[in-house]
Amino acid sequence: MIRIRGLHKRFGDLEVLRGVDLDVERGEVVVVMGPSGSGKTTLIRCMNLLEEPEQGTVNVCGAELECGRRHPARRVRDLRRRTAMVFQQFNLFPHLTALQNVMEGPVSVRRLPRAQAAELGRRLLDRVGLTDKCDCYPAKLSGGQKQRVAIARALAMEPEVIFFDEPTSALDPELHAEVLQVMRELAREGMTMVVVTHEIAFARDVADRVVFMDGGRVIEQGPPSSFFTAPDHPRVRSFLSLVAS
Ligand SMILES: Nc1ncnc2c1ncn2[C@@H]1O[C@H](COP(=O)(O)OP(=O)(O)OP(=O)(O)O)[C@@H](O)[C@H]1O
Ligand SMILES: [Mg+2]
Repeated sequence: MIRIRGLHKRFGDLEVLRGVDLDVERGEVVVVMGPSGSGKTTLIRCMNLLEEPEQGTVNVCGAELECGRRHPARRVRDLRRRTAMVFQQFNLFPHLTALQNVMEGPVSVRRLPRAQAAELGRRLLDRVGLTDKCDCYPAKLSGGQKQRVAIARALAMEPEVIFFDEPTSALDPELHAEVLQVMRELAREGMTMVVVTHEIAFARDVADRVVFMDGGRVIEQGPPSSFFTAPDHPRVRSFLSLVAS
């Protein structure tokens, strides 16, 4: 479903991605870990072209773009439409209710009639356990509830893959479980997911593969069974001992 080859991205003098290759199969859950500044956020932002890499190829759901060239806006839009993103800071519209936040994409991008978008929105809010919060504004929701609205909003675009950037790290620890539970259910239903997270229990239970980044490169990857018990790379071992402690 996703094939990334030789991805390079720099911000000014800083080379943030230094040749990343990554494959994600349909229905696979890939967890991305690595130290702060290693390029995890940049990588997933490049995968749906929120950032434009200078070099490499990005192929998402069959739409292939060679970086460093100009592309018709329609092709970029086409690729973006197959993906959705859930951010650390939720990024909900504060002036819209939970339901309106979820309806926004279907109405303005997918051109669904409002009544149909509202029905979809209610169904998705129900699915993330927020049936009774449809008419609440984000300011009246807890962090865990906001993040579940953000997940419903992502689902409303009917993406083929969802990228999550540390979806629980802005939340109080007792709110992590409700968000991770929703993500577990999505994984069980076969959603393709790329998740930047340091939630080791989640990665062990849910991930098909863990990818470890350091210094703008993927330095190790494997199924959680071997990744967490016998990582090859000393950098991974020292990182895991820090995160686990
Ligand atoms: N828009 C930007 N402009 C300039 N530098 C940036 C920009 N975005 C990221 N960087 C730099 O790129 C490097 C990688 O950032 P990135 O956010 O991808 O790391 P990360 O692995 O997600 O880190 P964290 O775990 O802290 O979220 C960092 O040094 C960061 O300061
Ligand atoms: Mg990040």
